[in-house]
Amino acid sequence: MRCIALMNQKGGVGKTTTTVNLGAALAEMGQRVCLVDLDPQAHLTINYGMDPTSDAVNLYNVLIEERSFLEAVHTFDANIALVPSSIDLAAAEIELVSVLGRETILKERLKSAQHDFDFILIDCPPSLGLLTINALAVATEVIIPMQPHFLALQGVGKLLETVALVSRRMNPLLKVSGIVLTMFDSQTKLSNEVVNDLNGFIENAKGKPLPWANAKIFESKIRRNIKLAESPSFGQTILKYEPQSHGAADYRALAREVLVHIPGAARPIAPTVTAPPAVVAKLPVPSVIAVKPSAPPAIVKSPAPAIVAASTKPAADKKVSVTTKPIEERKLVAAKVRIPPNPAATPPPPVTPAEIEALT
Ligand SMILES: Nc1ncnc2c1ncn2[C@@H]1O[C@H](COP(=O)(O)OP(=O)(O)OP(=O)(O)O)[C@@H](O)[C@H]1O
Ligand SMILES: [Mg+2]
Repeated sequence: MRCIALMNQKGGVGKTTTTVNLGAALAEMGQRVCLVDLDPQAHLTINYGMDPTSDAVNLYNVLIEERSFLEAVHTFDANIALVPSSIDLAAAEIELVSVLGRETILKERLKSAQHDFDFILIDCPPSLGLLTINALAVATEVIIPMQPHFLALQGVGKLLETVALVSRRMNPLLKVSGIVLTMFDSQTKLSNEVVNDLNGFIENAKGKPLPWANAKIFESKIRRNIKLAESPSFGQTILKYEPQSHGAADYRALAREVLVHIPGAARPIAPTVTAPPAVVAKLPVPSVIAVKPSAPPAIVKSPAPAIVAASTKPAADKKVSVTTKPIEERKLVAAKVRIPPNPAATPPPPVTPAEIEALT
């Protein structure tokens, strides 16, 4: 099984659109796919026509109430299943603060499902909080959807620093498999400049003990396509909504690339021939979804969790930012991410609450 976290703490870059449609395209190719909505905004859930306020067993029940992962799996097609989010998930980060092993709860729960799917795609929220850390702790791969926009480069350093930390301390299998450029317009100079910057950055990591040493910029760029923006309101993937569109073609091409590009040490388990997971509940997909626009997560960071006080990391250490650089000088500051010379030499100590807090 390959477990891929679709991650970028920047909002609106195409994480959910990519999860939905990459998943649909992989399923169309015969892969058994499970999509996990880890975002309290629940856009992935809504995209599948499910109401995140319904009583269906969801990820919150799994993470907080110890319901089994398979109970929350809702199958939609022969090859596609969804573990929905719920508004309650916004509170999960606070509720988990006092739970032992809170960074690996999703990993624990997912164990029961690892033979049921060829791919698990996790749609992360736009933050580097505890939910995202849980995704990184269980994933074998990270795919970073990114809009080729100057501002999109900001934050890549912090994102990769988070991946490196989790890879070092919790999940040595974790690799960045690549960056997928979304809402791409090949005509613009800026798009091409961003691609060049990213290429240089990835080249620079080759051969180094970094989780992104074998990353690539996927050849399949996702062009801006209005059909991709329309399809969620019909509760459909682009493959069903407009199978001949550019959007459908781009996500099919991306799925073909993802299928063959397995980064570094991430060793997928050969697909098994077990029966698809039992249908727990199949909700009707309305032709137009009457779901209120989701409110931003109601989560308010716990004002003073114990782990804040424990933080000893100097503020200067946490700075990985390009915000003050003029455009012409911009460089991916991710190059400055601090990696120990030989991470494999000493057994990794567990991630401390202070480190998680410093990153979030
Ligand atoms: N290739 C595309 N062409 C046109 N519109 C797109 C494309 N990709 C995504 N969109 C639209 O852009 C918006 C943001 O996309 P999406 O919700 O996938 O981003 P996100 O990274 O998941 O956002 P968030 O961080 O809020 O979870 C949506 O309205 C989506 O329909
Ligand atoms: Mg999203």
